[in-house]
Amino acid sequence: MHPEFHKRVIFTEEDISRRVRELGAEITAGCGHGSGPLAVVSILKGGFIFLADLIRAIDLDLTVDFMAISSYRESSLHSSGVRIVKDLSDSIFDRDVLVVEDIVDTGLTLSYILRNLQERGPRDLRVCTLLDRTGSRIAPVRVDYHGFEVGEEFLVGYGLDYMQKWRNLRFICALAEKGQG
Ligand code: PRP
Repeated sequence: MHPEFHKRVIFTEEDISRRVRELGAEITAGCGHGSGPLAVVSILKGGFIFLADLIRAIDLDLTVDFMAISSYRESSLHSSGVRIVKDLSDSIFDRDVLVVEDIVDTGLTLSYILRNLQERGPRDLRVCTLLDRTGSRIAPVRVDYHGFEVGEEFLVGYGLDYMQKWRNLRFICALAEKGQG
């Protein structure tokens, strides 16, 4: 039987859209000073909704590409358990690259991705995450742009899931089993 959950809104649709506009302006001002368009790389699946809103808030020439990796959570608690299950379609050699994530938690996923992308010779490599759980870091990673700092609560909505559900919520909320607050 599925447990029942309380959902408590943490960031409303308005909070998110205001912050996405601000991030878009910061990125427009600070990124993509190389010769070609900015290469925006989205990590599936969680980041796809943030990506769609963020790129429309960036006033630069850009391209979009996608990567999917198997989660270390499905193997062992080591970044070596991470592997690419869908690679980028295009080269990022000599490109200005912006990796877009929905959340950085332990940093294990991102540290693997950054090491992997760095080996491909980008001109510049930056990270934008909507949510940053800095208190949970295991692997140190540099996040250049973040929307909101978050705590330990389990979050769903706006791309984030619980067992693949609730990615389509327009807001972000904390999930707790009934009886646990
Ligand atoms: C989430 C998120 C990041 C990763 C961050 O992905 O999109 O890729 O976890 O966690 P970490 O910093 O502890 O490595 P998830 O594995 O939940 O898959 P999903 O994006 O398909 O929901």
